[in-house]
Amino acid sequence: MKYLFAWVAPALVVIAHANPLNLMPLPAQYTLGTGSLSIKQTFRVVITSYTEPRLVAAGERANSILSRQTGIPKTLSESGPILTISCAHAAEAVQKFGEDESYRLTVDERGARLDAKNPLGVLRGLETLLQLIEAGPQGFSAPAITINDHPRFPWRGLHIDVARHWMPVEVIERNLDGMAAVKLNVLHWHLTDDEGFRIESKLFPKLQGMGSDGQFYTQEQVREIVAYARDRGIRVVPEFDIPGHATSWLVGYPEFAAAPGPYQIERRFGVFDPTFDPTKETVYQFLDKFIGEMTALFPDEFFHIGGDEVTGKQWRQNPDIQSFMRQQGFQDNAALQAYFNRRVQAMVAAHGKRMQGWDEILNPNLPKDTLIQSWRGTKALAESARLGYQGILSAGYYLDLIQPASKHYLIDPLGNEADSLSGDEKKRVLGGEACMWSEYVGPETVDSRIWPRTAAIAERFWSPADVRDVNSMYARLEVVSRSLDWRGLTHRSDYSKMLNRLADGGRVEPLQVLADIVEPVKNYKRGRGAGIVRPTQQTPLNRLVDAARCESLQAMEFARLVDDGDRKRIREWLMRWRNNDALLQPVLAKSFLLTEVIPLSQALRQVAETGLEALDMIESNKSPTAGWLARQQAVLDEAKKPRAEVQLMIVAPVEKLIGGLEHPQPEVPKRVTRAK
Ligand code: ACM
Repeated sequence: MKYLFAWVAPALVVIAHANPLNLMPLPAQYTLGTGSLSIKQTFRVVITSYTEPRLVAAGERANSILSRQTGIPKTLSESGPILTISCAHAAEAVQKFGEDESYRLTVDERGARLDAKNPLGVLRGLETLLQLIEAGPQGFSAPAITINDHPRFPWRGLHIDVARHWMPVEVIERNLDGMAAVKLNVLHWHLTDDEGFRIESKLFPKLQGMGSDGQFYTQEQVREIVAYARDRGIRVVPEFDIPGHATSWLVGYPEFAAAPGPYQIERRFGVFDPTFDPTKETVYQFLDKFIGEMTALFPDEFFHIGGDEVTGKQWRQNPDIQSFMRQQGFQDNAALQAYFNRRVQAMVAAHGKRMQGWDEILNPNLPKDTLIQSWRGTKALAESARLGYQGILSAGYYLDLIQPASKHYLIDPLGNEADSLSGDEKKRVLGGEACMWSEYVGPETVDSRIWPRTAAIAERFWSPADVRDVNSMYARLEVVSRSLDWRGLTHRSDYSKMLNRLADGGRVEPLQVLADIVEPVKNYKRGRGAGIVRPTQQTPLNRLVDAARCESLQAMEFARLVDDGDRKRIREWLMRWRNNDALLQPVLAKSFLLTEVIPLSQALRQVAETGLEALDMIESNKSPTAGWLARQQAVLDEAKKPRAEVQLMIVAPVEKLIGGLEHPQPEVPKRVTRAK
């Protein structure tokens, strides 16, 4: 207890960064002026030149956000600072890919002025203005500045899988608000997969009727979301994954499958065999009607047909399909899928849309207006561009891999693979999409996997290519993350709620001390391994691994302290972690949800003890013995193993601390007694 009272919570140090502005994404160009605009009230918005209801609503929404993030009441005061918006002309009736999003924002001591050609530029500029407002000793203000801004890539998306886990309307809407805040402009809505068919079809009601457990969007809700997105300058591209990943379609319509049913909604996660039969004309008749119904609902120019991970097993085992392939001279399943894609593409085009698919669909017999989404690596993107197809990158932006923001941030759609492309080929690379697959996220946790990391990806897509300073990114990411709280995103607030549920009335502080320095296992290690029961769609997502953040800022901070040799603060942290186990064990004993955490907490104590011993040696100029080093290494190796499907993120810095010790002293030889 002594340590507990003596200990002062080490505050997170704000990382020194090169850029003085907390903007994310950073604008293409800006010049700081002198002075600032004081913000004591919400803005008086004046729209000159072209206007439309969307712009009026955007001005009001900006004031609401301002009010929420500052606490200043939203009033109709006549004395607030003036925000003049000047927009040259209307946008396309249906937001088009590649529409102008540029804007010019000027702030001085008298007010703010936002100029754009297109309402989309106004929407982007308003977000920048909101990000400029910060508290200072004199109150809230925005610095005097002139910003000329435009995006680097026209396609800046977030893909959300609502099939593995259902995401109700409010989840989508709050994430659209988050997307708008960081200037993303495409919601790629993964609406169907083996585990669920999530949209109402009036023509084929057994799709959602039997394939969704009643968890689907009505057509009215879809219209609402599309309108909500448009208000924020975001296009909505729906994905209907065919011919594989199709179990949920086939529950109600087994006659379209390549093998006899019956089928049931898949509860497990993975790649499964149920596949459409590409040889049946009835399949194309069905798909044509269905695509017609859906293209009427989704105004966007693009229509995503999935096309990934077709196992082909049902095709190989079906004699009729095999004989069809022989007749057509198809050598393999890829050729059969290419035939299927070609037919689907013709229908998509007949309904006035451009087809998009995952990189498996890449095949030179598809028309050149097909859009390729690269997920298996950057090679496919370069290959598509060389073959004359436009493409977007998702490889490197898979949020479900639980990688740090820095890793995603440094991956560029025009990165290494694109070096060999010609100028025209490079232009075919339109941007990218962060992908949120939902095997291990539900409505409660999805925000914490999307945010704040997606803001870093958004900067990659918007800002100039040479904006790559990771320290600056992390400093600004924290600011943006806090501001997203005020947009209704739950990536921060759910952490505390979930820890409280785990503690079940016990003390939550020691649980948080532990939770703050763990991260979920990465790279699809979740749900795998000895003794782990493979989770399904029905497995609750209420464990420590679900509450844990993707990236432990405290562990990062500790690693920095070790690098800097700040022994005083290293000791503070290590003592706290060493003492935490005794405080936490009674809490862990209270709830079955925390039983798995018992050994994790013990491992943390052991790592901290090791670190403290190392620190003592450093401070007393002692060198470790080889025996001591071997024992400590064994402790650290043990602590590196995931427990409760999370990793202790402070093991590596403690290892570094030990690595910094002087070379070991030779052991004093033990007397060897042979005689017995
Ligand atoms: C995918 O991740 N199967 C596109």
